[in-house]
Formats: sequence, C-alpha cells, structure tokens
Amino acid sequence: MMFSDKVALVTGAGGGIGSAAAKLFASKGAKVVVADFNAEAGEAVVSEIRNDGGESSFFRVDVTDELNVNEMISFCVERYGGLHIAHNNAGILHEAKRFHELDLGTWDRVMNVNARALVLCLRAELVHMLAAGGGAIVNTASGAGIAAAPMLSAYVTSKHAVVGMTKSAALEYARDGIRVNAVAPGTVETPMTANMTAQQRDALNELMPLGRMATPDEVAQVVAFLASDEASYVNGAVYTIDGGSSASA
Ligand code: NAI
Repeated sequence: MMFSDKVALVTGAGGGIGSAAAKLFASKGAKVVVADFNAEAGEAVVSEIRNDGGESSFFRVDVTDELNVNEMISFCVERYGGLHIAHNNAGILHEAKRFHELDLGTWDRVMNVNARALVLCLRAELVHMLAAGGGAIVNTASGAGIAAAPMLSAYVTSKHAVVGMTKSAALEYARDGIRVNAVAPGTVETPMTANMTAQQRDALNELMPLGRMATPDEVAQVVAFLASDEASYVNGAVYTIDGGSSASA
C-alpha cells in the first residue's frame, strides 16, 4: 500500500487519530496536509513527519467555516498540485448527560463540528475530485454512529449523520471514480478519551474483548487501507474497529 504521488488531507490531524493517519500516509509516500484548529498541535505533527523524511504542511482550519474549508482545499491544490485522499476526521465529544439535560448550545456545537462541518468538507472535496476525475474519502464516524451510547445523545446523533452522509455520497459519486467510506472506532486511546480516572479506565478496559482500547495507529491502518487502491471495490462501507465489542451486541 503506497501513496507515492498522492496528496492526502487529514482534518483534526493535530489530535490522536488524525495525527496517526497523517503520519501513516506520509510514511507511505503521500504529501500530507495536516489541517486542524489547533496550530500548535498541527505544526508539531508536521515537524514529526518532516523529521522522519516525509512531506507535509500545516493548514489552520475551522471546519465549521465554509470559506475556510474552501481555502483548505485550495491550499492542497496550490501547495501540492491536487487532492487525491481526504480523511475527514475533526470531531468533538461532549460531557455525559441524559438527553433532557443536555443543553441546546451543546447540541448545536456538536452537530456543527461533527455533522454540518462534514457537509462543508465533503462538498468542497467532491467538487475538486469531480473535476480531477476521482479520489478517495474516509470519514471518521464512531461506534456511536451505528448504535447508541448512553448519555451521549448529541454525539451519537452527529455520528449517525456521518454514516448517512458517507453512504449517500458513496452512492452518488461511485461512477465518478470517487469512493467514500467511514471508520467506526470503538474507544481509542487519544486526548479525547484522556480525562478518565484510572478506575474508569480499568473498568472500561475490562469491558473490551481485547482488554484494552484501540491505539490511534490501529485506526489509522484501516483509514489508509480504505484510502488505498487495494480497497478499489470498497465503497459506502462503515468499518468497525472496536476489538470485537459490537460482536456481542
Ligand atoms: P482528538 O480530540 O485527539 O482530536 C480531534 C482534533 O480535531 C483535535 O486536534 C482538534 O483540535 C480538532 N478539531 C476540533 N474541532 C475542530 C474544528 N472546528 N476545526 C478543525 N479542527 C478541529 O480526538 P480523536 O480521539 O483523535 O478523535 C478524532 C475523531 O475520531 C473524532 O471525529 C472523534 O469523534 C472520532 N472518534 C474518537 C474515538 C475515541 O475513542 N477517541 C472513538 C470513535 C470516534
């Protein structure tokens, strides 16, 4: 699986899963645009990639801003001459609250970043890829995009939307040479899941069939496969990466 001559964009690439994906794409020869709201985290990922001999640039983006998202795509084209792979991965979680207690501001924020922003990213990427004659898109959904997780109603709803958008786009652009897939990780060891007590972490690990959470790289490996030519007949798929948790549902 090599990505020589490919340009890959990863949003939320300053974070756990996104940085692992960006580094993996770069290690396999892609020119990688690391896009994130957090400039410090994103620049650090770019430095790591460059130190390892890879090619990468940072673009500061707020994926909820349409103009900014369009500029991000233009940046890929201007800097590296195209955009072949897009990993739409930026996302946020919210505090655990019952449905009726979760405030509307939180609903709006989570739906904005996780769902509406994906509309903006997909549209901009699809416009480019249609004109260019093809591409591969991988969205980061979640196990919470397939089944509910208690106390996370806005997150669950937003990730179900990610799955819906993935399937809709996959159908509509298949004959344009554009494949659209999603990964649905279970619980992954990233900054997003870092604020657990040792006790909570132990209890969670105990519930996992593999006795532990996923590493970001274990998610990135599937992202890279879905983005690669080896996955040429994989379209509209939602790949579960949960160590078997959902097998017992
Ligand atoms: P993370 O918090 O480490 O990374 C998320 C990144 O997205 C951060 O660098 C953040 O700055 C960036 N971001 C947030 N809002 C943004 C915005 N408006 N514009 C641009 N960038 C923005 O989280 P993690 O765990 O790496 O999550 C990545 C994706 O994976 C998210 O979509 C998350 O919902 C999903 N996911 C995570 C799981 C986990 O257990 N960590 C499980 C399943 C899915």
